Amino acid sequence: MEMNDKIFKALNEQIKHEFYSANLYLSMASYFENIPLEGFSKWFLKQSEEEREHGMKIYTYITDRNLHVHMHAIDQPTIKFKSPEEAFTMALEHEQKVTQYIHQLYELATKEKDYATQVFLQWFITEQVEEEKNAQDNLDRIKLVGSDKAALFIIDQKLGALAS
Ligand SMILES: [Fe+2]
Ligand SMILES: [Fe+2]
Repeated sequence: MEMNDKIFKALNEQIKHEFYSANLYLSMASYFENIPLEGFSKWFLKQSEEEREHGMKIYTYITDRNLHVHMHAIDQPTIKFKSPEEAFTMALEHEQKVTQYIHQLYELATKEKDYATQVFLQWFITEQVEEEKNAQDNLDRIKLVGSDKAALFIIDQKLGALAS
């Protein structure tokens, strides 16, 4: 069955959001590398790679439906971060926004009776639960340690190990 144009456009848009996420996390990785909190940097490098993979999953799906992907321009992500807490807050808010995009896509697929796209999007719905959980846990940890530098280094190491 041929893909409906609204769904096609929305999926192309979602590739843009995933690639934007990849660049945002790369920007954060670079900030942390610079401070230097290398564990956090590693964590965001890994997140960036995963976001690119999300974009590529949609790319493959569009290709599998016998269409060709319309790439979009990607906005510049934030490049300045005041503190680790600010970066982790942004990461959480960003994931929450992406969850909304995915849910809107699913609603559209439901409305347009595109069953294949509904099934395809289920992976992303589950993934967002995990992504939001991780982002929330990280932010909670950062808030918990507050101005305790020694504790900050411990969670930096912990996240670095998780990303290895
Ligand atoms: Fe993603
Ligand atoms: Fe994500």
